Amino acid sequence: MCGIVGYVGKDKGREVVIRGLEILEYRGYDSAGICEYDGEFEIIKTRGKVKELEKILKKKKKVSLSLGHTRWATHGTPSSENAHPHSVGEVTIVHNGIIENYEQLKSDLIDKGYSFKGETDTEIAASYIDLIYKQTRDILLTLQKVNIIFEGSYAIGIIINNEVDCLYAIRRNAPLVIGIGQEENFIASDIIAIIEYTNKYLLLENNYIAKISKNDINIFDENLVVINPKVHISDKEHEMNDKAGYDHYMLKEINQQGDVIAKTISKYFDGEKINLGIDLAKYDEIIIVGCGSAMYVGEIAKNLFQKELGIKTRVEIASEFRYNKPIFNKNDLVLVISQSGETADTLAALELANESGVDTLAVVNVSGSSIDRITKYSIHTQAGTEIAVATTKALIAQISVIGLMFIDYKIKKEMVTNQEALVFLKELTNLETNIIEIINDPKILSIANDIKKEKNVFFLGRGLDFAICLEGSLKLKEISYIHSEAYPSGELKHGSIALVEKGTKIIAIITQKDLLDKSISNIEEVISRGADVSLFILNKLDVNNNLFKSVIDIKKINIISDIILTIVNLQVLSYHVAKLLNCEIDQPKNLAKSVTVE
Ligand code: G6P
Repeated sequence: MCGIVGYVGKDKGREVVIRGLEILEYRGYDSAGICEYDGEFEIIKTRGKVKELEKILKKKKKVSLSLGHTRWATHGTPSSENAHPHSVGEVTIVHNGIIENYEQLKSDLIDKGYSFKGETDTEIAASYIDLIYKQTRDILLTLQKVNIIFEGSYAIGIIINNEVDCLYAIRRNAPLVIGIGQEENFIASDIIAIIEYTNKYLLLENNYIAKISKNDINIFDENLVVINPKVHISDKEHEMNDKAGYDHYMLKEINQQGDVIAKTISKYFDGEKINLGIDLAKYDEIIIVGCGSAMYVGEIAKNLFQKELGIKTRVEIASEFRYNKPIFNKNDLVLVISQSGETADTLAALELANESGVDTLAVVNVSGSSIDRITKYSIHTQAGTEIAVATTKALIAQISVIGLMFIDYKIKKEMVTNQEALVFLKELTNLETNIIEIINDPKILSIANDIKKEKNVFFLGRGLDFAICLEGSLKLKEISYIHSEAYPSGELKHGSIALVEKGTKIIAIITQKDLLDKSISNIEEVISRGADVSLFILNKLDVNNNLFKSVIDIKKINIISDIILTIVNLQVLSYHVAKLLNCEIDQPKNLAKSVTVE
């Protein structure tokens, strides 16, 4: 959440920061700002997206030092006052995260004579850094102190007015990379923001301090001892401004899914053997933790692991997990699922699990992310950079990993032969054509036309299909703003069926043969009350098509591809609805892709 970019070098400060902020807009886009130095300091900020900021940066400038920010509001409304950078006294900062004890710090500052223009915790942080700096006149000592005083998670880029040739940075549990250039250096919330300029970067450990000038980067630990961190080389590709002819990144990313599945599988399957580096059979219980769509992948995994493999599995919402005093047993595995590897609640759940001593495994898309760095075992999904805020290809990559874990366990337990497993994996790596067929299916567009004017939509399914419904419903509401709810089909009659009336639109999912009859009787309960049901069903299952407003057949291949193809149908449905409604599909309102605050 919130994106930070900083530059120190010769004269490219404007270009690097604006370009980087555009790339980081997926992290938040309610306001943007920049502090530039070209012989004198200037701060320009505005409500709205980076393009609004660009409009008011009229005059061309050769900027040797700059610090920019794109915001997702936590404290304080989206406004130009609350936009970053915040400048107080001799200090200017940009910040991603939340300073949790800001109320306490604010009252200390008021006692010391400080007053505030806006409502943000960042202005308090800037004031506090200024206060300590005025006392110490030493910025390193100041940052060492604030690292002790500030509570919460943060990545902060700092400029001190009398040091016009360097940037400082501190962080705790929020992402920040330091890019290494030639006679120029950078900071950014994600390496992709600066990948056009360098692929070499350092990671800053929690509570460490970075001092960055044109030719030097110095990193200090919490005792201000200089350390030499490892230089990382990123293999990320720059995908921004490249919709490859598609109207939206979301559609491009839906189209990439066949390739993403194949890449993810081939990373861990060499054509003969699967090597995930972990054996599920060792564990008594798997506790899956994640947020949003990643958590719904957990629900899918639970259905597969418990129902199909007999492994005791439970799923926990990361934001609830640590406040519920979770009980761990020695032989539990905590499995966290995260695209970004930075989601604050998921990271906190992982820290808690690590502290308890149980084994931890992360299924994560961003290698080197905070989650990737602290987990015991990692499996890296190969989705590449996902730009659209609503996840598609990253989620499908996560399901591919669940598929690998599923078949690996079956091989180890001799529930399938090697040959059967080989066929299964081949089928998964060959889904591209099926995915393209779904994208072009006119019947899905026609269902989208049917529901686009609705205020409410229900998604109904049982077991695994309910888990799929959770994701389908979230996708629809987050990009089209139509309220939708996923319900286990059998549960609807315990209250929510009161909302069903003539014309209520319902999306029903049936992919499991053993639940076919029960699912159909639940669907008949809503049809008899006037609902219009569009059914997505595996093509091998037999139903009376006349009952339904429309029926979409899903090609039966194997249990994991059935899940994947059903979800692709729902992604495409949501995409069409949002497009018909002229929504901002890639950047829905109020959302951010990487949620680095609690
Ligand atoms: C946000 C995104 C979701 C994502 C969730 C978890 O809400 O919009 O698409 O599922 O965060 O993110 P993670 O990076 O941990 O997968």
